[in-house]
Amino acid sequence: MSMDFTDQRLSYEKGALDQQSVPISPFELLNAWMNEAIEQKVQEPYAMSLATCGADNKPSVRIVLMREITDTGVVFYTNYESAKGQDIAENPNAEVLFFWHELERQIRISGSIAKIDAQKSATYFQKRPHDSQVGAWVSQPQSGEVADRKVMEQSFEQLQADYPEDTQVPTPVFWGGYEIMVNEIEFWQGRANRMHDRIVYTQENGDNWNTKRLLP
Ligand SMILES: Cc1cc2nc3c(=O)[nH]c(=O)nc-3n(C[C@H](O)[C@H](O)[C@H](O)COP(=O)(O)O)c2cc1C
Repeated sequence: MSMDFTDQRLSYEKGALDQQSVPISPFELLNAWMNEAIEQKVQEPYAMSLATCGADNKPSVRIVLMREITDTGVVFYTNYESAKGQDIAENPNAEVLFFWHELERQIRISGSIAKIDAQKSATYFQKRPHDSQVGAWVSQPQSGEVADRKVMEQSFEQLQADYPEDTQVPTPVFWGGYEIMVNEIEFWQGRANRMHDRIVYTQENGDNWNTKRLLP
């Protein structure tokens, strides 16, 4: 069954982006846009599509939650033995994408990924709700096949019995954070007539960034 969307279009008119007035650091703009998204009540503005590509040269993309913006990049948490973890082990280059319809904005961040410090991962894991911690143990290896939902539920119940509410769930060694160390960020602001604004920051060295305007 086919569907046709060729008559569907919106005019984007909510903002503008000017190369002359953007901050020197892309992190300043990233923080400012993130704050605006929160103020405008974008639902889960920190949800981002993460694209990876392993040795098989097959790109794959999925949503993960950004948990921190650091001075060098963005951090998310996952299972190191998942399909994305395998991709990253084979090829550290990755890109993440945010799209906020409410603000007619898109942000693309590319860079190389590395595991964060295990102690920092453990601190975050221990902050998570007890049952989410249990869930991380159930989903091992994440992306592996499971016969049916009942198997997962039984495993969840067993782990809840092993680790009641008032006990500490150990941090799995197979679970933790990755940081995408940014080397390029593109900020996209939708404009009328498809004349969108695209400003891309490219890292020169250290804290020095070049900006360019790209054709939309
Ligand atoms: C809104 C949303 C948030 C998600 N957040 C995460 C996350 O922070 N970490 C994670 O590992 N998976 C998260 N997922 C699940 C992933 O999209 C994905 O299904 C899972 O990580 C397995 O991906 P993989 O098989 O490519 O490794 C989220 C999914 C959605 C829809």
